[in-house]
Amino acid sequence: MNPPSVQDLLAADSHAVPAPLLDDSWLDQGLGGIPRSRYTSAEFAALENEFLWTRTWQFACLEAEIADPGDYVVYDVADQSLLVTRGPDGSVKAFHNSCLHRGTKLRDDDGRAKSFRCPFHGWRWDLEGTLVELPANWDVPQVWEDPVASCLPEALVAVWAGFVFVNMDLEGPMPEPAETTVLPPEADWHEAPGMGGLAAVFEQDMANLPKVQAGLKSQGKRTVSFARYQEGRFRHMHRLMDRHIEAGLVADGRDPAVLDPHCA
Ligand code: FES
Repeated sequence: MNPPSVQDLLAADSHAVPAPLLDDSWLDQGLGGIPRSRYTSAEFAALENEFLWTRTWQFACLEAEIADPGDYVVYDVADQSLLVTRGPDGSVKAFHNSCLHRGTKLRDDDGRAKSFRCPFHGWRWDLEGTLVELPANWDVPQVWEDPVASCLPEALVAVWAGFVFVNMDLEGPMPEPAETTVLPPEADWHEAPGMGGLAAVFEQDMANLPKVQAGLKSQGKRTVSFARYQEGRFRHMHRLMDRHIEAGLVADGRDPAVLDPHCA
């Protein structure tokens, strides 16, 4: 007999299940193993870098981590690095963490700075990304005298509810701005404007949290365990990654079959 599906479990739930969770537009994730090459193949890593990490919105840090002007967080993903920083005017910017001279990484760790000086030959940019110091600038007037090309390249930034997101694809879609709502501990998720259908899902998750915690302590009893839940999430994540990479390959006129050896 097959183990119960998520929909079987939801149907047996003693509480009302939010409609979004009952959407049956499911995709068979299969039961086969995930190919190891997804974690080891240089070819697959290159596809991820090209079509996923440099073209999608990602959570970089909390606004509270860069509360004051000059605070910065180094956000590393795949072979890319961004400096996410608070400017003098209070706005948040994300600069590519790479010197325009020889590509030296400007910062390795989070911190606070008045400006970003390259540790190699001393080129220095202010918190707006403007080149403000270039030792021996007479040697490279084409850089020193070009106020646009000498700026640190930026990524897109969107701040939502205290979370800072970045996207290296400057052509990427900008999300709609949203108000920040601070809910007291006893409040219902529905009281946060803009949550929409997600409020019902969050309420369900909150109700299930004690069961998940109990499952973590179940000491081998066969339950709907956190491990099984995670397995489903991982499969779903891999599918999502495939869809992004495949769409990028097709848009570039390349053969998406290169993904096949890395798919379950
Ligand atoms: S590599 Fe940064 S100043 Fe030369």
